[in-house]
Amino acid sequence: MMSICRKVLPASRGLASITSVRNKATLPELPYEYAALEPIISREIMELHHSKHHQAYVTNYNAAKEQLDDAVAKEDANKIITLQGALRFNGGGHINHSIFWKNLSPEKSSPSDALQKAIIKDFKSMDNLKAELKAAAVGVQGSGWAWLGLNKKTGNLQVVQCANQDPLQATTGLIPLFGIDVWEHAYYLQYKNVRPSYVDAIFDIVNWKDVSERFSA
Ligand SMILES: [Fe+2]
Repeated sequence: MMSICRKVLPASRGLASITSVRNKATLPELPYEYAALEPIISREIMELHHSKHHQAYVTNYNAAKEQLDDAVAKEDANKIITLQGALRFNGGGHINHSIFWKNLSPEKSSPSDALQKAIIKDFKSMDNLKAELKAAAVGVQGSGWAWLGLNKKTGNLQVVQCANQDPLQATTGLIPLFGIDVWEHAYYLQYKNVRPSYVDAIFDIVNWKDVSERFSA
């Protein structure tokens, strides 16, 4: 059953896993070349997406974090509250893209036995899971993400839409396993306005090894 992430948990929960050096977030290197996902995703899209868009989230998150540190030191509650939007948006953008790059691969792979069992239990078949993920991704109004997440309390897999750059774990508590970025910057240069074709194609480059490792972790 698809749901939409709304609840906001304490900001620190989702930020624990992002790449950082000395308290500064840094742009992670891609685990493959910019052209490696062609023809599904063009080199041009990957280069812009990683080196410009993701870099902007990192830069703006660091700027907001610096202002937050200053506001905390000055006990400036108004400033601290004012910064929450920028932290959520840019920190979320950094978290989401850091997962997204690893979720994709030019190498073919399959879900682990444990993940396959969980998919069958919760979606009846891999085709149903893909159909539900596609519906969630295509149905995002404006910019956002579709996620396959793990509910640690119930042990169930769930498909969820997140608006803008809301990070799945910090906003829902679900563990992100696989995300589909449906911001236009992720596909427009190649797929134009046909988001469903981009979503269909992306299933050919899922790094099921990475998704399975996130599930077992
Ligand atoms: Fe993106």
